[in-house]
Amino acid sequence: MITPTRSLYVHVPFCAHRCGYCDFVTTSRSPELHGRYVAALQRELALQGGAPEGGFDTIFVGGGTPTLLEPEAMGELLAWLASVQAPGAELTLECNPETVDERLADQLAAAGARVSLGAQSFSAHVLEALERRANPETVRGAVRQLRAAGIERLSLDLIWAVPGQTDEDLARDLEAALELEPDHLSAYELELKPGTRLAHRFGTDAATALGEAADEHYDFVIDRLQEAGWWWYETANFARDEQERCRHNLAYWHADTWLAVGVGAVGARAHADGSRVRRANLPNVPRWLKAVEAGELPPARIEEIDQRTARLERVMLALRLDQAVRIEASDIADGIVDGAGLERVMELELGTALPVGDADGTLRGTVELRLNRRGRMLQGTVGGLLLDP
Ligand SMILES: C[S@@+](CC[C@H](N)C(=O)[O-])C[C@H]1O[C@@H](n2cnc3c(N)ncnc32)[C@H](O)[C@@H]1O
Ligand code: SF4
Repeated sequence: MITPTRSLYVHVPFCAHRCGYCDFVTTSRSPELHGRYVAALQRELALQGGAPEGGFDTIFVGGGTPTLLEPEAMGELLAWLASVQAPGAELTLECNPETVDERLADQLAAAGARVSLGAQSFSAHVLEALERRANPETVRGAVRQLRAAGIERLSLDLIWAVPGQTDEDLARDLEAALELEPDHLSAYELELKPGTRLAHRFGTDAATALGEAADEHYDFVIDRLQEAGWWWYETANFARDEQERCRHNLAYWHADTWLAVGVGAVGARAHADGSRVRRANLPNVPRWLKAVEAGELPPARIEEIDQRTARLERVMLALRLDQAVRIEASDIADGIVDGAGLERVMELELGTALPVGDADGTLRGTVELRLNRRGRMLQGTVGGLLLDP
């Protein structure tokens, strides 16, 4: 039996061009395809079993550049999403600054959307290095226009550890972002993904490309945002307050399940026994369209995740969040979590593990691991110690 899921991811692959660092599933195919693509998204959801009773609680439209859709296709997308969401649902759309105009801002506001705007940087030379289409003024203008239209929940994406980005550039980026008074900030370390133009220039090893600057940048980002009163609630994510956390991504970090539609989209569903199945649609627009329009599920890579791996992934994802990670006695007994690794995490002063229950014999050996700041910054290392003996 597959358990029902309350979250939906929708992938829109269209981009005006490919930025030098990006390896997401994107295509620069013609706008004539937009309407067909949106219609096919709806068919794919039906083929995957449709919306749950009462609608989805969270919907995330990612890209690509969802806001590149032609206005009519965007209207159809938003009307369809309104019909599959629960009352009070969180609907997020990723948005590129250079695509924002009054009409788009009004459409998004009327849909009650949360907007995640890809600012990346406010330094012209960093934006150029990333091969972005927007300049710092475009980013500021987009924020003003979205707010004027009535967008209530606005998130900005920033990227740090970009080759050539100085400490001063990063400091300026953070101040500029804070000045715009967003509700949420994502600050990503640049990943030099194999096959991208930046990786071609700098290699794929950030340590070689940036040396220790990367760690210092991360430190600085956390310091400055916490000092400004922001909550560092996930490895790369900061919220103005609890309500502003991204509910959709929290479902992902809590190892919940979600449906995913669109070319290249990846979804995960859980069986009642805790094992999971991950479905990744192949990243090929014509093949995806052909299958869905013929009433068939699109070609996909299906991965069965056994109970053991699912438990391991749950711990790995939980380490990303600013909350204690519950490690069951059975996780250690079954060798999911390495007990010696847990001791090592504490020896290295990366966190503390407190027993849960105990005294009257309940939950003996179950602990709550709370990482400290350094432990959270080194979350990958902690994961390696706990899960990869
Ligand atoms: C899937 S992208 C799409 C968003 C939108 N098209 C844009 O570019 O603003 C979402 C976010 O992922 C981040 N991202 C993409 N590639 C990255 C990389 N190689 N390293 C770090 N962050 C990356 C960017 O901050 C981007 O805003
Ligand atoms: S970063 Fe965004 S705009 Fe640039 S290619 Fe990737 S998805 Fe498209």
